Amino acid sequence: MAAPTSEAKWLRVTIALSLAAISVSTTISVYLYKRKSRALNSKLRELETSLKSSLDNCASERQGRIKAQQALRKALTQSNSENLELTTYPMAPIGVVQSCFSTRNGTPRQPLLVPLARACLVFNSGRVPSASLEGLGEFSHCWIIYVFHLNTDLEKLWKHPSKSKFKAKVRVPRLKGGRMGVFATRSPHRPCPIGLTVAKVEAVEGNMVLLSGVDLVDGTPVLDIKPYLPYSDSIQGATVPNWLMMDNPLAVASVSFSVGFTSALADCWIVAEKKSLYSSPDELQGLIKQVLSWDIRSLSQRNRPHDSHSVSEFGELSHGTSDLKEDHDEAASEHDMAQDSLNSKEVIYHLILEGLNVSYRINYDGNVIVEKVAPSVTMNNNKNRCNYLAWRDKLR
Ligand SMILES: *[C@@H]1O[C@H](CO)[C@@H](O)[C@H](O)[C@H]1NC(C)=O
Repeated sequence: MAAPTSEAKWLRVTIALSLAAISVSTTISVYLYKRKSRALNSKLRELETSLKSSLDNCASERQGRIKAQQALRKALTQSNSENLELTTYPMAPIGVVQSCFSTRNGTPRQPLLVPLARACLVFNSGRVPSASLEGLGEFSHCWIIYVFHLNTDLEKLWKHPSKSKFKAKVRVPRLKGGRMGVFATRSPHRPCPIGLTVAKVEAVEGNMVLLSGVDLVDGTPVLDIKPYLPYSDSIQGATVPNWLMMDNPLAVASVSFSVGFTSALADCWIVAEKKSLYSSPDELQGLIKQVLSWDIRSLSQRNRPHDSHSVSEFGELSHGTSDLKEDHDEAASEHDMAQDSLNSKEVIYHLILEGLNVSYRINYDGNVIVEKVAPSVTMNNNKNRCNYLAWRDKLR
């Protein structure tokens, strides 16, 4: 057997000396304390090791997930950079607006201009459970992101961007037909036909929200709604260009009703009531007055010379739509205008509200005279239309 090396001998001596030192100075309590603390230390090391290994696992899982997501994105963008028309994202309407504005014509140009303008936003409960509306009723206003589904040029947008040729500049009502870059306006005719508006939240019930002050046409598909936050959404000191500062060029001088109007409206009410978001014919008349207190005629209608020398009979004309909303239908409006100046001295316009056909004139001085009301030929036949009764208790 080989003699122990000097190193090993030295170690043995050290250990012996240490043990001697311990046995001299150790009391039982210190010994117990040390044992306990050794046990704790080893437990701690065990936990540290297991924590580290699970963190490592998490990190590699996360890493794996991120890598997969990146690969997916890369694959998508690669195929899309060649086929831009195939760029799709998982977005589809979550609800549809049932609005007092039956047609685009007469739908206000801006939100909150017509405080009585009501709409019921009905969510698709298959896509969004009612629980997703919890808490919304506690906000006074909300943003609504929607699709300009009535754009006549919508189908062009399915084409490759190089072929869809959307108009970079659009006519602006305030500029009396002057043009502006589309992104300096809220024109519906934009590369992505998405609208943004704000409305007052009147009440929330099940999968429905009752809104007021809307500028949305009946049937508008809604992509999203978000609460309006005054502390961040309202910007103190925000400015707009001078062309928007002209004082109210679109307000009319006055709105008055013909003698028989109120009783004609009461007659219509018998049928309209079931599908109406209004409590009475009086309230509906209030809505008509508010809507017509803004000049809702299209640019070409407004620019038409009201030729007092013309002796022809009144021409009737289906109301055009607001300028921004009709930019691409311009040719049609200009055609109407040519027809009207041929056969009319004072044109009768029609506004379709709550399924009712309201006829009115507007004279030189900008006074609106509401003549008649009759059920519209395009009255909404949707049996599931929500009406005032559904909201009565919530509105009190
Ligand atoms: C509104 O009434 C006029 C006649 O007064 C008619 O020519 C027009 O087609 C009607 N519009 C609708 C949508 O009912």
